Amino acid sequence: MNLGLESSVAFVAGASSGLGKACAAALLDEGARVAICSRDAGRIEAAAADLRATRPGAEVLAVACDVTDENQIASAMQQTVDAFGGLHILITNSGGPPTGQIDDFDAAQWEDALRLNLLSTINLSRHAMDHLRATAERDGWGRIIMISSLSAKQPIPRLYLSNVSRAGVQGFAKSLSEEVGPLGITVNTVLPGYTRTARLSHLSESLSERTGESVADIEAGWARDSALKRIGTEEEFGATVAFLAGRPAGYITGVALTVDGGAVKSLL
Ligand SMILES: NC(=O)c1ccc[n+]([C@@H]2O[C@H](COP(=O)([O-])OP(=O)(O)OC[C@H]3O[C@@H](n4cnc5c(N)ncnc54)[C@H](OP(=O)(O)O)[C@@H]3O)[C@@H](O)[C@H]2O)c1
Repeated sequence: MNLGLESSVAFVAGASSGLGKACAAALLDEGARVAICSRDAGRIEAAAADLRATRPGAEVLAVACDVTDENQIASAMQQTVDAFGGLHILITNSGGPPTGQIDDFDAAQWEDALRLNLLSTINLSRHAMDHLRATAERDGWGRIIMISSLSAKQPIPRLYLSNVSRAGVQGFAKSLSEEVGPLGITVNTVLPGYTRTARLSHLSESLSERTGESVADIEAGWARDSALKRIGTEEEFGATVAFLAGRPAGYITGVALTVDGGAVKSLL
């Protein structure tokens, strides 16, 4: 299937590694020009160099940007549009918050988590909006895809901070999809289940330290929870996001799509 993304412009946040980088790679494979950001200039430059080396001719712009800082977001969007002449696709993403439950976090930690996973999504969308609108007026389409978590549909034990932030992202995405739909801009969330990245390894290692259970047994348990009985790959996740970003997905908006091997047990 041709996704019709040749020469389109995408901005992918939180893309020096993991799911964000996999989304950037999948979009580049479809011919998009892609700006990637993360907090650390060295890490994001290294990711861009790797993407260029593995995809000769790929147009990748590396931008150091902490998505919890509104001024840095505004500057990153402007740099993208200056470099590529528009913006068709925004992928929101960042790192995950720490694990813990009711007595483990004070008010400041709650605010940090909401800033990292909810406000970053809102602020990335706000600061991309003028550019997305202008490009949609010119080319007739646009895409916003918010990377969230299966915890939006099925809260994960001890992941209070994620469970709460992701629910907010769903409300924001659905509201925005109504507003920008008439412009041809779709807004969807993609909810990863357990997927092999640095974050997943960090989660299984910290759980192992706390419980004494081996990392292998913890990860085998996560795999057993899914219908497919395995952990997902970054490539599978990136390919799903690229499909939603593509032109053939132009009638899909306001949905929360799980890429979790069937881990969420609800009917809808
Ligand atoms: N992997 C899974 O199984 C899974 C499952 C459910 C949900 N998720 C969620 O999906 C998202 C991505 O997960 P992942 O596994 O890819 O995580 P990851 O491997 O830890 O990668 C996170 C990326 O975000 C960047 N980042 C972190 N904080 C940032 C900030 N404030 N501003 C800009 N960039 C930032 C990191 O780069 P720098 O360090 O260079 O800034 C890195 O590139 C997370 O929110 C995670 O909770 C993941």
